[in-house]
Amino acid sequence: MKKIVAATSNAGKLKEIKDILGDGYAVIPMAEAGFSGDVEETGGTFFENALIKAKTVSEALGMPALADDSGLEVKALGGAPGVFSARYSGEPCDNARNRALLLKNMQGVKDRSARFVCCVVLYDKGKIVSAEGYAEGRILEAEDGFGGFGYDALFFSNDLNKSFGRATEEEKNAVSHRGRALRTLTEKTE
Ligand code: IMP
Repeated sequence: MKKIVAATSNAGKLKEIKDILGDGYAVIPMAEAGFSGDVEETGGTFFENALIKAKTVSEALGMPALADDSGLEVKALGGAPGVFSARYSGEPCDNARNRALLLKNMQGVKDRSARFVCCVVLYDKGKIVSAEGYAEGRILEAEDGFGGFGYDALFFSNDLNKSFGRATEEEKNAVSHRGRALRTLTEKTE
């Protein structure tokens, strides 16, 4: 079994990472491994931010670390909120406020197409393995469902033909940006 630290304090992401990676991996939350606090995301791309998080946590703990940087890109908003998805409505990160702002900014917009993007980076002693995954869909006119986290209730998945907020965990993981990125990453590391 491969032992890796998850460089995230986001409980929603952490559960999905554990479920998607499955039995071959022992995923240890960074706080449990002894890393406290947050890593500042100063990069301009999902890859840069994932690398900053994985490298910082791995070097601090002397263990392989896996980071996920992800977000929602809305076509009509020029790709926003993008790398700022977690902080769309300002600091501190508040998912309900972010969804409310997105709905407000999408009022009256016809083309509601959007995609989730995820970049995962595994960092170990200077070695970097990375992968990206995408989930295509559109932004709903109102929240639908209570599952998942973040923008899930506002995202209608083209793959599932329903919102991520209404999908079971298994359904979402099978088609999500995070599921796709992590499965590609594991293929690369095998
Ligand atoms: P970061 O990767 O920590 O910068 O934050 C990513 C942000 O994007 C999260 O806080 C969510 O708002 C959003 N996000 C990323 N992945 C998902 C997802 O699977 N569902 C819903 N929202 C997501």
